[in-house]
Amino acid sequence: MLGSEHRELRTNQIRGEIMERELALEFVRVTEAAAIASGRLMGRGQKEAADAAAVDAMRAMLDTVQIKGTVVIGEGEMDEAPMLYIGERVGGADFPEVDIAVDPLEGTSLVAKGLPNAIAVLAVAEKGGLLHAPDMYMDKIAVGPEARGCIDFDAPIKDNLARVARAKGRRIEDLTVVILDRDRHARIIREVREAGARIKLITDGDVAPAVATAFGESGVDMLLGIGGAPEGVLAAAALKCLGGEMQARLVPGSPLEAERALAMGLKDIGLVLTLNDLVSSNDVIFAATGITDGDLLRGVRYFGGKASTHSIVMRSKTGTIRLVEATHMLDRKTFVKRGC
Ligand code: FBP
Repeated sequence: MLGSEHRELRTNQIRGEIMERELALEFVRVTEAAAIASGRLMGRGQKEAADAAAVDAMRAMLDTVQIKGTVVIGEGEMDEAPMLYIGERVGGADFPEVDIAVDPLEGTSLVAKGLPNAIAVLAVAEKGGLLHAPDMYMDKIAVGPEARGCIDFDAPIKDNLARVARAKGRRIEDLTVVILDRDRHARIIREVREAGARIKLITDGDVAPAVATAFGESGVDMLLGIGGAPEGVLAAAALKCLGGEMQARLVPGSPLEAERALAMGLKDIGLVLTLNDLVSSNDVIFAATGITDGDLLRGVRYFGGKASTHSIVMRSKTGTIRLVEATHMLDRKTFVKRGC
């Protein structure tokens, strides 16, 4: 016979397992809600409105999830963001206690212009499991599982490309590298071209292509260059689930940003951050829903009072990857505002 202490422990373990399993799908409901709300504004040139719609829907939906969550990457500091600010408590339960990184609309301009790869995205881990990256730039290199162990942030680009090509059994000329189309990337664009690889320049949204490196059919082999640090942590969470690799370095734009970076506990801002530095938890859940069509996920479609969504949800502990296609009856959704 089990003593009452053991019984309680076992009950908590079972409760924990069941909660964890169910939670993955709960988080997809959160990203679906954000995607449906903001996707309505695709192509209207209203990036703030599209972002606000995603934030509202994600915030409301998060409170239906049975967690005690703290936003560690969100819409900004408390005084600059009304919702999903850093430190905000979300969720509708006292257990489990988790940290959450959210980007209700990753790629605001992409939605405003109807361009590919806008997603609603979040990552969840046990407390302290995600780097609390402040809103600043981060230099990144990301690859999928076949090329894990082959990249070195400080090595010349041509060497990284040669190693990745070898690991994938291909020629450098067959690889495709995604890079944000920014003046700051003139050097890396030149070096990738000189090495012979193909390049896909994107206007915005570097999370989706980082995740896409782990899917052969996406045609994306590597992500390179400087983008947002919060987006870097979100991409790292996905790559941890997928067995890929990412290395990064913070790029503070001012002494204040450098101070913020040091306040995160980094000894040296110039340090190369590994995947485990970015996401130290071995139990991270990543969920994303396509808003516009992308390399990996289809965007939201609306038809006759319904909407269809395409999402991915993964958990590093189990390695399960779920692609979820859903049809939503909009008149039965509590998060849908009139007109959606
Ligand atoms: P939004 O904040 O408008 O969604 O933009 C996201 C993004 O394109 C990221 O994907 C990327 O990491 C970053 O902005 C790039 O920043 P910048 O536009 O300043 O180069």
